[in-house]
Amino acid sequence: MSLTTSYLGLTLKNPLIASASPLNANLDNLRRLEDAGTAAIVLPSLFQEQIEGDDEVRQWLTEIHADSSPEALSYFPAAIGEPYGVGPERYLDLIRRGTEAVSIPIIASLNGSSLSGWTEYARLIETAGAAAVELNMYYVPTDLRESGQDIEVRYSEIVDAVCGTITLPVSVKLPSNLSAIGHFATSLVEHGAAGLVLFNRLMQPDIDLVHLKLTDTIDLSEPNEMRLSLLWTAILSGRITASLAASTGVSTSADVVKCLLAGADVVMTASALLRHDVGYMSILAGGLRTWMEERGIATLADMRGMMSWQRSRDPSIYTRANYIRILEHYAPH
Ligand SMILES: Cc1cc2nc3c(=O)[nH]c(=O)nc-3n(C[C@H](O)[C@H](O)[C@H](O)COP(=O)(O)O)c2cc1C
Repeated sequence: MSLTTSYLGLTLKNPLIASASPLNANLDNLRRLEDAGTAAIVLPSLFQEQIEGDDEVRQWLTEIHADSSPEALSYFPAAIGEPYGVGPERYLDLIRRGTEAVSIPIIASLNGSSLSGWTEYARLIETAGAAAVELNMYYVPTDLRESGQDIEVRYSEIVDAVCGTITLPVSVKLPSNLSAIGHFATSLVEHGAAGLVLFNRLMQPDIDLVHLKLTDTIDLSEPNEMRLSLLWTAILSGRITASLAASTGVSTSADVVKCLLAGADVVMTASALLRHDVGYMSILAGGLRTWMEERGIATLADMRGMMSWQRSRDPSIYTRANYIRILEHYAPH
């Protein structure tokens, strides 16, 4: 049996990728992820705010110490807390040490919403040895005058700029709250994206009623959050040239199977690993293997996209017809 798949032009031993999370900032975890059968690892992000902070530090140092060296930057705290406070210099070091520690591909992640500094760091990331770059353009459009088109143009410009600067494959971790996901996905591919991660998970604040402030805790995802990714993976599968990574809510090996049947090239998970520890990846891999064995499926290619919109005998199940059917048949308890 072969679980081999291709993602961003990289050949992976199976479709299981550890998504960006603090777990992946630790070298021991990277090794344990590899031992548990993980095929590739996305490092936690280097944030635009860290890059901008770095520029400010650089400028300040240059002004007051004409002889300052880049190493001096490492003495300055980054604006964001550990492990996200690793700062640009230490981030590059994490890539270097990560790629030495494991033999599976290490994907770096750049996280921001405007162009500043991305291309310079994309180049440094390439030099540091990452196998690919994932762009997370996390953005909450609070400006009521800003249109969807404005935002999409900005995203495309970032993809253009990064893809024009490095030879590494670039993936885009998409938000799900877009009005025309298929059109934008196609456009990102035209701008150079080699892969799409469906989807990024937006933090939704809650209100602490005791202290009357927004809560600052992060909830891990729940399994039913996977449905949106499943829907769009199925709709896009076979219809765009980019690799597809299903992400958010993937909690069990059954979820992995579903994403592959919908048409994902790879499946990513963070919350399940944070919940069960990194060794859980071997449970996901084992479950996938068992499911394929039980059905006599020899390769991933034999099952990938079997349930996609394009190959479905009844594509209406992905659209309005099914919506109406579901509502009609709903029986209140
Ligand atoms: C604690 C935590 C830290 C995360 N850090 C990052 C990050 O640095 N960069 C990023 O792109 N995504 C980050 N994510 C998002 C995950 O990579 C993933 O996209 C999201 O959690 C949905 O997948 P899941 O349902 O498998 O958790 C983080 C998620 C969690 C829970």
